[in-house]
Amino acid sequence: MSFLDKHKILERRATLLLVVSLLVVTIGGIVEIVPLFYLKNTIEKVEGMRPYTPLELAGRNVYIREGCYVCHSQMIRPFRDEVARYGHYSLAAESMYDHPFQWGSKRTGPDLARVGGRYSDEWHVQHLIEPTQVVPESIMPSYSFLAKTPLNYANIAGHLKANTVVGVPYSQDMIDNAKADLEAQANPDSDYDAFQERYAKAGVRDFDGNPEQVTEMDALVAYLQMLGTLVDFNLYNEAENLR
Ligand code: HEC
Repeated sequence: MSFLDKHKILERRATLLLVVSLLVVTIGGIVEIVPLFYLKNTIEKVEGMRPYTPLELAGRNVYIREGCYVCHSQMIRPFRDEVARYGHYSLAAESMYDHPFQWGSKRTGPDLARVGGRYSDEWHVQHLIEPTQVVPESIMPSYSFLAKTPLNYANIAGHLKANTVVGVPYSQDMIDNAKADLEAQANPDSDYDAFQERYAKAGVRDFDGNPEQVTEMDALVAYLQMLGTLVDFNLYNEAENLR
């Protein structure tokens, strides 16, 4: 009996074929999935990643509330054209503290994964108030109300705490100081040494240029300005050039 003849037995019996197919798929599944349960972490560790500061986290909440992700992605794919336009492709570790992640699925506007530091704070404020003022052909809506809306951060410690439940390593110290840290980051005249010790590389500025109050604009600009700035990609680019 040739191999094909044996296979005929299977192919002629629908139920038997189904049972054997399921068996094969199950074995394949076990081989692929089970090892993942024995890994402590499927994300490669990357130097420089830290949890969001309270102000950045509040800005991120504004970003989600306003649906910025509907038009903007935060995921640079490893294609030559994307890397040339946006910078180094995104690493898994760069969204390890994002709950939920903001990869997005549509680019009506550009990818924002590395927009941090590309423009000045003033540019962002002006752009969010009236996009066409800085990019005449822009179809992005105006978010001018953010500059007039005081940020509601009474419950910011709760936000940090909620993130710890899903694995973000906020320390008790960070949670206890969440409110003070938020205010310190938005006020360059504050005593922000302890804040910067808790959050490496966090910028301290009056992000919206209005020292009277902490607005939603402050939070959103603080968030945008840190996107993609935590990992030092010079290390990666050098390693890649050597290849
Ligand atoms: C209707 C789709 C749409 C929505 C919603 C939207 N944007 Fe945009 N965005 C665009 C388009 C189109 C551009 C490119 C033109 C421009 O720069 O204004 C853009 C550009 C940008 C840029 C400049 C990026 C760069 O690299 O030049 C930033 C930053 C930005 N948007 C932030 C935001 C934020 C924050 C929100 C939410 C508050 C938001 N956008 C909501 C469409 C949108």
